Amino acid sequence: MRLLIHDLSETDAHALAGRIGADVTLGGEEVDWLGCQGCFGCWTKTPGRCVMRDGIGDMGALLASVDDLVIASRLSYGGFSAVTKRALDRSIPYLSPFFHTVSGEMHHQRRHANRISLHALFHGPLTDEAADIARGIVQANAVNLAADVAEVRFATDTTALVSEDYLEPPFATEKTGDAAEKAIAGGRVPSDPSVPMPASDDRGDRKALLLGCSPKAQGGASGFLAEQLAGLLGERGVVTSQGQVRRMSLAGSHGPARHVPADIVPDPAEVLSADMLAFVFPLYVDGLPSHLIAYLDELTDALRDATTSGGAERSKTPADASPTRPIVYGVVNLGFYESCQGSLALRVLGEWCAENGLAWGGGVSIGAGGMLQGLADVPADKGPRAPVTAALSSLAQDMSAGTSHGVSLVKPGIPRLAYQEAAHLGWRMQGRSNGLSRHKLDATPTDWSSVDVEGKTA
Ligand SMILES: Cc1cc2nc3c(=O)[nH]c(=O)nc-3n(C[C@H](O)[C@H](O)[C@H](O)COP(=O)(O)O)c2cc1C
Repeated sequence: MRLLIHDLSETDAHALAGRIGADVTLGGEEVDWLGCQGCFGCWTKTPGRCVMRDGIGDMGALLASVDDLVIASRLSYGGFSAVTKRALDRSIPYLSPFFHTVSGEMHHQRRHANRISLHALFHGPLTDEAADIARGIVQANAVNLAADVAEVRFATDTTALVSEDYLEPPFATEKTGDAAEKAIAGGRVPSDPSVPMPASDDRGDRKALLLGCSPKAQGGASGFLAEQLAGLLGERGVVTSQGQVRRMSLAGSHGPARHVPADIVPDPAEVLSADMLAFVFPLYVDGLPSHLIAYLDELTDALRDATTSGGAERSKTPADASPTRPIVYGVVNLGFYESCQGSLALRVLGEWCAENGLAWGGGVSIGAGGMLQGLADVPADKGPRAPVTAALSSLAQDMSAGTSHGVSLVKPGIPRLAYQEAAHLGWRMQGRSNGLSRHKLDATPTDWSSVDVEGKTA
């Protein structure tokens, strides 16, 4: 079965679906799908199915029937667009919560036995960095989904995407292993350290705005990290305020269900008036969560509106960036152990800065993020918290001085096996509290007739 997930107009989607022979088509320029709320109910309450029933609640079961997954997406700062990423974020029920090791890295075990061929067809303006990030993300997605990369293509716009020329020779299915290998190598390299930053002497009292971007009501591990970073900045005399980005709906038409947190969308004008801006976010499917991508799109619009020349100039180096705009930093935390798995997401944030003429100050990637909130009672400079605190302190130092040391990858302060065992115990205990045995957590809901997904045509 061939599944097309897209962010195209109806006409373009129809043309593309016909050309590639899609059996199921999901998406649109705007969709009313809710964002993943990070509850992991799809692993511990209704294994294999999302607890939100809004048209993509059965992405897991749908993917279990898929041979070819074709994603036609606007290239958004090197990653997928908010719409297509939304469907990807909601696809984690396809996987088991339990971990295993693939090529020395932690990933999820399979829930389903099928093997998917992944086709990524990006449209929109292209930079070398964005293309490199995109190839890396698609390859990382393939590893996570135990899939194969069939192709990663770029078209300048949607017209080119659906044009005969673009898709000839016939829709390719051959593997591009070498290209994919190269992309992942490129994707895992920390960004250039010690980049020059705009002069900041004339800024007076520096103000930092920290945006926690977990969809979880209590702020999650991201909120915990933002709180700690705020404290470290305060010690350095930086005036800090905090906000949360938690936009769950992409279109206004779908009223959030009762269990879905309300939209919280900090005012772009206020955000862009800060001296320093830090996005503190969870890694979702190797990239930014879809609600954060949507929010970056809003900030992009606000920046364009504010630029009299009609559009922000791409900044060639951070030194070109406007001194009246915030310097942007990022803190990503992720469930897997290896912090390097978060570096592509930080590169997306860096590319967003470059495309908008903002200075990118780099940031921190923190693996084994699942344990962070459980460590609240551990002294910040001791045991498993020590490496995180050291990295956040360096970041706070950079932010207070308006400097950058690129991206730092934090080595978790706990052995890998201990983290994995603790995580597995956690999944089993959560399942048990929902009346589910270990065996039930591996359920494989694939009954196609009961699959509840928009666009199902069979
Ligand atoms: C939809 C979804 C996708 C995720 N994708 C990844 C991933 O690709 N790699 C990873 O290491 N962790 C992944 N995680 C785990 C989160 O990054 C991790 O649980 C993180 O600690 C959550 O942070 P928060 O509490 O701030 O939301 C994912 C979690 C969710 C809900």
